[in-house]
Amino acid sequence: MTDLFAGMTGFLPALERIADGALLLRGFFAATEPELIADLRAIVKQAPFRHMVTPGGHTMSVAMTNCGASGWVTDRSGYRYDHIDPVSGQPWPAMPPSFRDLARRAAEQGGFDHFAPRACLINRYVPGAKMSLHQDKDELDLGAPIVSVSLGLPATFLFGGLQRGETPRKFRLDHGDIAVWGGPSRLAFHGVAPLADGEHPLMGPQRINLTFRKVA
Ligand code: SIN
Ligand code: FE2
Repeated sequence: MTDLFAGMTGFLPALERIADGALLLRGFFAATEPELIADLRAIVKQAPFRHMVTPGGHTMSVAMTNCGASGWVTDRSGYRYDHIDPVSGQPWPAMPPSFRDLARRAAEQGGFDHFAPRACLINRYVPGAKMSLHQDKDELDLGAPIVSVSLGLPATFLFGGLQRGETPRKFRLDHGDIAVWGGPSRLAFHGVAPLADGEHPLMGPQRINLTFRKVA
């Protein structure tokens, strides 16, 4: 058996289990890339990236926007989901089918069927930007997974355990890679190390991350 399949691994979807309920999918959106990037550009035109402020008064190095029925926001009054973009006073741009379908298919690979995200947080990292270790716990429904799509420059993803003190493991995330975590890993601490300098052929000197959540 081993010999028969040894030369075929290039044809199998690259799926790496990193914890109970957590996995990485490599090069997952190749076929839908042009549509995904065109849709992303349209969203950012309507709801431009902005640097939000944490409840503690710290301006985040990652610039953010959202699409979908609900968007994640932070300001001096706290973290929350809101269906209105506080900058425009309008609802967030709708979540395009290219985004929704990608997230659903990725979740399925992790055994999370029928994932129907209501929120997509869009993070933009320029060299030096980072995201400190945190849990995604502003969502009411913790039964649904998080699906996190990487575009542009490579990043070092930090994936820890359920306790903040646990030393996170490091995983490289490239353009086209998707991380999925749910079930026993849903509240795992995670973050992103400071982005290294570089120039991505399609995306330029930045990394974009799409994080899909069901929210409620
Ligand atoms: C996040 O945790 O919201 C972002 C993760 C990432 O940028 O890969
Ligand atoms: Fe997160």
